[in-house]
Amino acid sequence: MTQDELKQAVARAALRHVVPDTVIGVGTGSTVNFFIDALATMRARVRAAVSSSERSSERLRAHGIEVLDLNQVERIPVYVDGADEIDPGGAMIKGGGGALTREKIIAEAAERFVCIVDSSKLVPVLGSFPLPVEVVPMARERVRARLRESGGDPVLREGFVTDNGNQILDVHGLRIEHPAELESRLNQIPGIVTVGLFARRGADIALVGGADGVTQRDFD
Ligand code: A5P
Repeated sequence: MTQDELKQAVARAALRHVVPDTVIGVGTGSTVNFFIDALATMRARVRAAVSSSERSSERLRAHGIEVLDLNQVERIPVYVDGADEIDPGGAMIKGGGGALTREKIIAEAAERFVCIVDSSKLVPVLGSFPLPVEVVPMARERVRARLRESGGDPVLREGFVTDNGNQILDVHGLRIEHPAELESRLNQIPGIVTVGLFARRGADIALVGGADGVTQRDFD
């Protein structure tokens, strides 16, 4: 199977986790795009969606699925999103697509995080994928210096502006043995809006597409 076929398979498998007639949380990325397309097949049972990016919102609307502002929503039983890396404890690096801030907000608001990935995203230790960090532009160089102190090599994502009007530093060269601890520490640096480590609120389950089909890992 190609990588796209694996992504499609996990996207379809995620439909079983959608709670009918409720608001679904929808993430961002190429795997989620397949999920949105699959979701359209059960559109009549989807009350509405909240989405982590303008891109995903556009795709949802194109399929006739209503997109609500998070402030209008009381309950999100399930949030479905991809990841750039996921470790054996369900901690993830996210933000390769730059949507990490809204992803983290919706993940926190949701009762259950269903992560959909192909098997290339499974890693024993996070950090081979550069860690995305969203920064307020005026603080970029101060934040960069602090990230260097943490042992990483932060590289500005050139020509990229987030949906929130900020910039992204991609931090190379980290080996993240204790993701929750690093997430908490980096969260204290003024000017950092969001760290693309999802460890304090990790995945509850992962659906993993591999050569043997889709397997489920439970972390809760
Ligand atoms: C978007 O900002 C990311 O967090 C995505 O969830 C992540 O990059 C996975 O994307 P793909 O499904 O395209 O690999």
